[in-house]
Amino acid sequence: MPGTQLNSVQTAALSAGIDLDALPTHVAIIMDGNGRWAKSRGLARLLGHREGYKTLRSVLLNASELGIKYLTVYAFSAENWRRPKDEVDGLMALIERAARDELRVMHRNNVKVRVAGRMDDVPTSLRNALEDGIQTTQHNTGIVFTLAVNYGGRAEIVDAIRDIVATGTEPEDVTEELVAAHLYNPDIPDPDLMIRTAGEMRWSNFLIWQAAYAELFVTDVSWPEFGLKQLLSGVAAFQHRTRKFGGLTE
Ligand code: IPE
Ligand code: IPE
Ligand code: MG
Repeated sequence: MPGTQLNSVQTAALSAGIDLDALPTHVAIIMDGNGRWAKSRGLARLLGHREGYKTLRSVLLNASELGIKYLTVYAFSAENWRRPKDEVDGLMALIERAARDELRVMHRNNVKVRVAGRMDDVPTSLRNALEDGIQTTQHNTGIVFTLAVNYGGRAEIVDAIRDIVATGTEPEDVTEELVAAHLYNPDIPDPDLMIRTAGEMRWSNFLIWQAAYAELFVTDVSWPEFGLKQLLSGVAAFQHRTRKFGGLTE
């Protein structure tokens, strides 16, 4: 990008061989491995989650500086309620504190906050904190940052079907476009790059509709240790893929 002043993240990206004009528009991250990170250090799992929060803060900033337009992160799945009550409570409290503490910085950085998930089943104080974030940042024009809380891909599709059925739609009028239009954030484009930390090779019910053609990048690095280097590795790997969407390249 000749003539434009590059920030330090973009300069690092260029050094990593990244083409700044071909970035993934939407990056989604399955932030995994907090518990293992803590355990391997003899720490309580919640300390791993706390460390993961610090990682998220810097990854959001780095993604924004790099020029990513949409970042979606999996903070708590619809299935994570199966964990022990103190871990669930600790996570809810941590997400709420993060949402409140980071709001001012996110707003200053022109971040637009969104959520994905069944908000009705999230503790009221957390829901209020998230709604406050959405309200405050709704007119911002920078990176769109979506926090998936109490999110399940199947639940999202079920919710979409319920909405569609409620409108009395005829079966022949049900199309992929219609289903997509009833998902939680229909205005957000599908993820181009899906990153998972801590080595598991699975989707764990994350964005299963939207990620149908996402490029998957799995790193063994756990979420608390994920940094700019790994983010750039993911983007570089993405740029080496050939996306075909079922067609042929030539
Ligand atoms: C990811 O870390 C955070 C959440 C799922 C909330 P984990 O807590 O799943 O960490 P591991 O997989 O046990 O290491
Ligand atoms: C996925 O991680 C959910 C989040 C990162 C919030 P999990 O740790 O819950 O996934 P599984 O249980 O290993 O599939
Ligand atoms: Mg896990």
